[in-house]
Amino acid sequence: MTESTTFLVLTDLHMTVEPRAGCPEPESRLRAGLAHALTCVPDASMILLCGDLTHWGDEASYRKLKPLLDDLPVPVVPMLGNHDDRAAFRTVFPEVPVDPNGFVQRVIAIGGYRLIILDTLLLRDEGAPVIHEGELCADRMAWLDSVLTEAGDTPCIIAMHHPPHGTGFAAMDALMLREGEAFHDLIERHGNVRHLLCGHVHRTISGVYRRTPWAVFRSTVGQMPLMFNGTDSTVENHDPPACGIVILNGDGILVHTEDFPSE
Ligand SMILES: [Fe+2]
Ligand SMILES: [Fe+2]
Repeated sequence: MTESTTFLVLTDLHMTVEPRAGCPEPESRLRAGLAHALTCVPDASMILLCGDLTHWGDEASYRKLKPLLDDLPVPVVPMLGNHDDRAAFRTVFPEVPVDPNGFVQRVIAIGGYRLIILDTLLLRDEGAPVIHEGELCADRMAWLDSVLTEAGDTPCIIAMHHPPHGTGFAAMDALMLREGEAFHDLIERHGNVRHLLCGHVHRTISGVYRRTPWAVFRSTVGQMPLMFNGTDSTVENHDPPACGIVILNGDGILVHTEDFPSE
């Protein structure tokens, strides 16, 4: 039997201190999702939290999130999304590694792959309005170039909150990674990236773009309805929440999703 390594993906937790009107309560959803995922996959080697850890990016929400992750039996890898705040996150999670420029990016060796964690949260001046598009500035792109070079022939998986290409939803495609084509140029040049794992869209979607397979996962809270031409990126429905299950084996990469009970 081929040896395999499995890890879990939960995304778009949108933690808040107070519940938002009309939205699922994020703490109980996260507890339910973690419990269900770890029951389904008790030998999971890691839990990836694929960004939008909080809704408002406030320190209090990160402080509410932290104890929910502290006693888990496997390592947790938190990532940033457009609803996060890098400074507040780093204040509450100082132990999470960052790159030399302070971006929440790192490389994890897992199951014969290099899992590259990207920080696509757009840089903005303190107090400036939140912009929900994703960004890989020159420094982050250079870091990615260097870790892909270092990986050489080792296959890589990239986890990033913002998809670097359209996913078929007009409202969300307006908020994807700004440097999507440059990102794809870079990974195509290296030729060692086997899969992309993303959040942001709050829906189960997968496909291939410029020959690279990708997957987007449902949120632990509200989901994106099937409105391809909708113009409102904030619309949510009450489809069940889900977690991702990524299996790395000698033959390749399997990406499953598993709904979890929401009440
Ligand atoms: Fe989100
Ligand atoms: Fe997002």
